[in-house]
Amino acid sequence: MEIVLSGIRPTGNLHLGNYFGAVKNFVKMQEEANCFFFIADYHSLTTHPKPGDLHGKVRQVLAEYLAAGLDPEKSTLYIQSDLPETAELYLFLNMNAYLGELERVTTFKEKARKQPDNVNAGLLTYPSLMAADIIIHKAQKVPVGKDQEQNLEMTRTFARRFNRMYQEDYFPIPQAFNFGEELVKVPGLDGSGKMGKSEGEGNAIFLCDDPKTIRKKVMRAVTDSGPTEPFQPKPEPIDNLFTLLKVMSTPDALAHFEEQYNSCNIRYGDLKKHLAEEIILFTEPIRNRILELSQDDAAISKAARMGAEKARESARKTLREVREIIGFKSF
Ligand code: TRP
Repeated sequence: MEIVLSGIRPTGNLHLGNYFGAVKNFVKMQEEANCFFFIADYHSLTTHPKPGDLHGKVRQVLAEYLAAGLDPEKSTLYIQSDLPETAELYLFLNMNAYLGELERVTTFKEKARKQPDNVNAGLLTYPSLMAADIIIHKAQKVPVGKDQEQNLEMTRTFARRFNRMYQEDYFPIPQAFNFGEELVKVPGLDGSGKMGKSEGEGNAIFLCDDPKTIRKKVMRAVTDSGPTEPFQPKPEPIDNLFTLLKVMSTPDALAHFEEQYNSCNIRYGDLKKHLAEEIILFTEPIRNRILELSQDDAAISKAARMGAEKARESARKTLREVREIIGFKSF
């Protein structure tokens, strides 16, 4: 079975954009492939060396992914720092990672610009840690967004280099994977661009938002005074609302509001009311599971322990072989 792996940043709550852009596909993929999903808490130290409540954040992310449908029985869902083997493989990879190539990585340059007082070695070697994450399970496919493609290219470089240097066809060369047709870009509510937590208050709808908050956010979404001529092209904020409707509602409802738009009879208030209720219908069960899990220490620890156990089995095997290949032997 194909091995798929993805890393999850332990920042913030899941929003509809995360859900339809990635999580929904993860949930489906766990039925078809041998999936590894992990929360990248080691990586977070590259930008937040003294993280406040790291444990709490990781716990929340874990609860939200479980609530959204990742199943610890079907996939291997674990926390990066529960796998110290990753750190060892990272060390080995760093011995053959060169300053020049690491300095050229765009995300490094961006972060170095953003935090000039903390251009640490972890930031520079972010790609070798990411490579360790991926090749430790010999993953073949990595679902990543555009922003991570260069890091994945570095993974391929490190894997190929390892194979070449130690003259063994050991690590598979992982491929980027995008969900093609199934990749849904969910727009935000601020009238431009996609849904994201950094775009400002009210742009994103979180899976844990309560109905009142959802109604408030949707009703405040940017609109205009409406079309003045039949079949007018939609300005971006309006087009975004229709995209959201398409994702969240039925074809009938979408057709209804399209017709209203095209005949200049649209009342955005009605569209938003409908949209908000559809979103609430969708998020409510997930939200309830998030709330339940957040209070269920036993369920969270059980999931984390199960994930760690499965992940370590695979990682230990790789490290045993890697040590052997490089030439470390026990006496
Ligand atoms: N760098 C990824 C991000 O910022 C997170 C990540 C860490 C990751 N290790 C990974 C993603 C391995 C895929 C595979 O989103």
